[in-house]
Amino acid sequence: MPPGQDIWGDKRSREAHYDQFIDLDNTANYGYSKIDADEKTEQVVRHFNSVARQYDFMNTLLSFGIHYLWKRTAVKLLGLIAGDRVLDVCGGTGDLSILAVRAVGPAGQVALFDINRAMMDAGRAKNTNTGARRQIQFVQGNAEQISFPDETFDAVMVGFGIRNVTHMEQGFREMHRVLKKGGKMMCLEFSKPTNPLFRWFYDLYSMHAMPLLGQVLAGTRQAYTHLPESIRMFPLADELAAVLGRIGFEDVTYRRLTNGIAVIHIGHRS
Ligand SMILES: C[S@@+](CC[C@H](N)C(=O)[O-])C[C@H]1O[C@@H](n2cnc3c(N)ncnc32)[C@H](O)[C@@H]1O
Repeated sequence: MPPGQDIWGDKRSREAHYDQFIDLDNTANYGYSKIDADEKTEQVVRHFNSVARQYDFMNTLLSFGIHYLWKRTAVKLLGLIAGDRVLDVCGGTGDLSILAVRAVGPAGQVALFDINRAMMDAGRAKNTNTGARRQIQFVQGNAEQISFPDETFDAVMVGFGIRNVTHMEQGFREMHRVLKKGGKMMCLEFSKPTNPLFRWFYDLYSMHAMPLLGQVLAGTRQAYTHLPESIRMFPLADELAAVLGRIGFEDVTYRRLTNGIAVIHIGHRS
């Protein structure tokens, strides 16, 4: 970010996340840097390779455990019922999938779709919620090309993942495609706190403490520098709602959590 500029990207820099701007000059946001769009996916895979083993521990530590509450609220808003088929895009180590398994029961199905083998392996290897983990179908692939047929799922969700997908709108289009008519989509993602004072503390914490903790506890300062940067370059809640509407999701609503540190978007396919 150039000196003197707000660490939260302006509208123009956030728009660099939209597919049409990426395809214009084949460059993509990577935190505050611009990289070749063709290299972003590889870079993201390397990023999650470097954090996979400590991912859950670091999430809990850095968010003081609040991410579990956000995830629980998000899955609750999907209104899953017994027997539903659910897709967890960018599912990582499976927190959202586990919550979905509990909601859909043994008659339901939950597929976790992620590009990174190390993240899925870390999730599979955990010795918590072992029953629920066994019910998850792990599928490796790119969210820009989801390897399921049209209209397969009653609900599709993505948690803290779409920010990393090079062509974000293509990822949402794929989620829309695999969703059954009448189905529901949920996106949980970081965003910009609304209260300026709270945001000042949050900025201080995430731009300084987080990279340091990442270095000391996870052995990677770079990954935990990239994380807060990428959050600040991502579309704001109303901008993301507009993107979802353009893609074809209907009745798009969103709910801010913890003053807007995270936001849940819900959309429907009719
Ligand atoms: C921050 S983690 C979130 C994991 C999990 N959803 C959670 O909330 O804890 C982001 C995940 O997105 C995955 N991911 C990033 N880009 C992807 C892509 N293009 N296609 C599929 N998965 C992707 C990463 O491998 C990683 O596991």
